[in-house]
Amino acid sequence: MWLNIKSFEEYKDVYRQSEEDRKKFWEHEAGTFYWRESWDKVHSGGFENGDIKWFEGGKLNITENALDRHLNTIGHKTAFIFEPNHPDSFRRTITYRQLYEDVCRFANVLESKGVEKGDRVCIYMAMTPELIISALACARIGAVHSIVFAGFSAQSLAERIQDCDAKMLITNDGLRRGDKHVPLKDISDEALEECPTVKNVIVCQRTNRDIDWVEGRDEWWHMLIRNASKKHTAVEMDAEDPLFILYTSGSTGKPKGVLHTCGGYMVYTSYTFRNVFQVSEEDIYWCTADAGWITGHSYIIYGPLFNGATGIIFEGVPTYPDAGRFWEVVEKYEVTHFYTAPTAIRALMSYDLDFVKKYDLSSLKVLGSVGEPINEEAWHWYHDHVGGGKCPIVDTWWQTETGGIMISPLAGITPTKPGFATLPLPGITPVLMDENGKEIGGNGVSGNLCIKHPWPGIARTVWGDHERYLQTYMSSYKGYYFTGDGCRRDEEGYYRITGRVDDVLNVSGHRLGTAEIENAIDEHPNVVETAIVGYPHDIKGESIFAFIICEDQPKNKEDFKKEIHKLVTKIIGPIAKPEKIQIVAGLPKTRSGKIMRRVLRKIAANDLENLGDTSTLLDPSVVDEIKEGEAF
Ligand code: PRX
Repeated sequence: MWLNIKSFEEYKDVYRQSEEDRKKFWEHEAGTFYWRESWDKVHSGGFENGDIKWFEGGKLNITENALDRHLNTIGHKTAFIFEPNHPDSFRRTITYRQLYEDVCRFANVLESKGVEKGDRVCIYMAMTPELIISALACARIGAVHSIVFAGFSAQSLAERIQDCDAKMLITNDGLRRGDKHVPLKDISDEALEECPTVKNVIVCQRTNRDIDWVEGRDEWWHMLIRNASKKHTAVEMDAEDPLFILYTSGSTGKPKGVLHTCGGYMVYTSYTFRNVFQVSEEDIYWCTADAGWITGHSYIIYGPLFNGATGIIFEGVPTYPDAGRFWEVVEKYEVTHFYTAPTAIRALMSYDLDFVKKYDLSSLKVLGSVGEPINEEAWHWYHDHVGGGKCPIVDTWWQTETGGIMISPLAGITPTKPGFATLPLPGITPVLMDENGKEIGGNGVSGNLCIKHPWPGIARTVWGDHERYLQTYMSSYKGYYFTGDGCRRDEEGYYRITGRVDDVLNVSGHRLGTAEIENAIDEHPNVVETAIVGYPHDIKGESIFAFIICEDQPKNKEDFKKEIHKLVTKIIGPIAKPEKIQIVAGLPKTRSGKIMRRVLRKIAANDLENLGDTSTLLDPSVVDEIKEGEAF
């Protein structure tokens, strides 16, 4: 029987057991899945050498656990309800059997196009069932999926395709997100000019707009699946074979392709979904994320399917056609579990409460939060007005690299506290580190958050750059995984994540590297150098501030800002646009040439009193000049 913790006492008991014998704990969890052959070794490797392996030698196909296994028991149960962008558009439900057949059909299509085990397939699609079918079909034939959020620009898409040498691209003609239209096929065409490895493009119809067509390369989804068989024998994978790549921003350089493997990721996402959300058979679970992010991978696609849950695929946005959209959907489908990001809550809080009150939300049992710290005001609004004061909030802390939830309450079991991700899941050992690289013991302390022991869901490498993997996660504190987050452990031993301590920004729950944005802005012909920092923002959590050195003073600042926005949108995507720009004569640099961002962060936040020690700067007078300048 798989682990399904039901009381706080049991949680504490299981946590202790997992600490005593980690291998036994994970082996038990893994034993609840269907493996074609059992593993030779539960676990090997560690953070010292970054050679972590779980269930090595075990043979499986992850889709047999997500789909085939359910056919005889819950084949007629709804796997997904699809809710389109506009409430009046065509909506549909898909049973486990239908999903299985659709995945088999598309797996056959992929194979007929020459996609083989180990090949990379890029997916750049609207949040529709076909996105999920594409990912699962890749997993079924052993191809590695790389889903790129359909808000990224042609250049970002091209970089991601090039980095992993994808052989195929699956996209839509276009998508609608709120009242915006995104021409996915046009963007794909532009990206593919730079991507010679892509031999086939499969286009799924969504908007029916006119698109260009490259004969011999482009094919319609609906034509290809028409005669495809609904039966497909899944390809056998080793537990440590790659499952997917997902690009995420780091503090330096271009986004890195975080790689997850089949066995460990399966065990971890399934275990965390079941215990954190406590979803039962009749429940309707809705995670509002996009499948282009890790939350969508782990808690829309994989975790819920392993557990036979009914989920919602939502194509829209929280404020379209109006700010009652989420609550309308909750009422319509009698959603029991609702999982969203603090930025969405803060955005909705700014509208009239009538948008919430208008709908019957009494079906809700559990609320979830993910992606960034949730401030107390948002927590209370969510708890009182959405949850009617009766639903536990699971504030789930985790990362693209962790594969699944790491620190979180178990719904209805762990006593919660606003702003706290509370306690680690059994099997996870968080530690706080001081500046000297030593573990900080006891409670009522703060430090940098590390994880002490490997867990099955941890990313195994950065695609094509294992050195970067070691450097980013395993070099700051030898023998530990470094998360990049600061954290406080309060008197009761509860964890509160305080935000990134590296040069990564979290804008509306989206992770962006300062270096990435700086590089994009530096492409402007009039820009000499840029420094990006984040500053607090009421709705986005954090917003982007750009300090820019120009060659010539721009004649019109607003025009300059527009040019910068256009450039950033082209190179990265609209989410990376700086909200504020300040033109400066120089940047505060140390003698070794490093920008002292701490000072810029204070200035951006208008906290001019406590700039700290600036004596180590090459030219401290730069700071006064920046303080006096004005942003626009
Ligand atoms: O800073 C933490 C923040 O989001 C970062 C990870 O971002 P990403 O890989 O895009 O994954 C987001 C979805 C899992 C973390 O390093 N973060 C995530 N969840 C929380 C959080 N910060 C505070 N509280 C959370 N619940």
